[in-house]
Amino acid sequence: MKPILGIETSCDETAAAIVEDGVKILSNIIASQIDIHRKYGGVVPEIAGRKHLEALLPVIEEAMSEANLTFNDLEAIAVTHKPGLIGALLVGLSAAKTLAYCHNLPLIGVNHILAHIYSNHLIHKDLTHPYLSLTVSGGHTLLVHSKSPLEFEILGSTLDDAAGEGFDKIAKLLNLGFPGGPAIQKYAEKGNPNAIKFPRPMLKKKNYNFSFSGLKTAVAVYVQKQKETGNKINLEDIAASFQEAVVDVLTIKTLKAAKDLNINIITLAGGVAANKPLRERLEEKGKKNQIKIYVPPLYLCSDNAAMIAGIAYHQILAGDFASLSLNAEASGGKKPRI
Ligand code: KG4
Ligand code: ZN
Repeated sequence: MKPILGIETSCDETAAAIVEDGVKILSNIIASQIDIHRKYGGVVPEIAGRKHLEALLPVIEEAMSEANLTFNDLEAIAVTHKPGLIGALLVGLSAAKTLAYCHNLPLIGVNHILAHIYSNHLIHKDLTHPYLSLTVSGGHTLLVHSKSPLEFEILGSTLDDAAGEGFDKIAKLLNLGFPGGPAIQKYAEKGNPNAIKFPRPMLKKKNYNFSFSGLKTAVAVYVQKQKETGNKINLEDIAASFQEAVVDVLTIKTLKAAKDLNINIITLAGGVAANKPLRERLEEKGKKNQIKIYVPPLYLCSDNAAMIAGIAYHQILAGDFASLSLNAEASGGKKPRI
């Protein structure tokens, strides 16, 4: 099969990549808007859409020229069409439809979450199904039993905030900057993870769901109390203790699911997979329990288009082509949407 061009604009990264046979990355270009959204303390959907519009064509051109290909050399155009910010998704989708129409190429509509789960295959060529995948990003916390690139069963998800959203909100509360994950991790390096005993939500529940909004409230209440009593607020300790609670919950529940289902492979994916303590804890627990852990490198953890072009290869093999009437679908509420 010829290489596939992937396009990703679901949130605040404008990305285009060319991937051959589902695994060989010929180019992988990412233009991040983080610096623009930082001053607002979060992603502003309208601005994201407008910035995608400015960045997308140069990003696609760069991906094509780095791979040294013309549109005649391509098999198909793949694009994220769900879930995400609707105005952001529409920019990538319109561009992909136009390119597919003009160059007479098939269009593939890709699910962003399935693509995150797939990201490990781009780098770990020995990874085989079935496995358990923990996808943790700014918008999702999903524990999935992945049976093939396109076949899966959702075991659990967050009932409220996503894990990354938790990091972002706590960082905002503590004034540590945006995005929150890397900021919390940095402060946590100098703090004591056992200084404050924050709750470990959902650990005792007999399901694989998560919940992070109670933890967020616990941190807010703690900070407020410290202020009221005139005590010093130790940002490093709060960051470390919060991060420890999140890592505890994510790893304990994931390991439990792996044991219950008798699965000996766990993969980590999504932006929060960049979190060093989370990666390390999962590795450590995996070693103890004879479970193999796969974690993508940092450039494949956050949003990218290589994962879009990668999974599209399997969609083509399965005959899953989209028509030019393909629509964008937003994240829509708290129910996991895959
Ligand atoms: O996958 P991603 O790039 O975008 C979404 O699809 O949501 O994930 C972004 C999320 C943000 O919430 C960010 O704070 C979080 O990933 N993140 C981290 C780290 N790096 C990024 N969270 C914890 N630790 C990190 N090192
Ligand atoms: Zn993502």
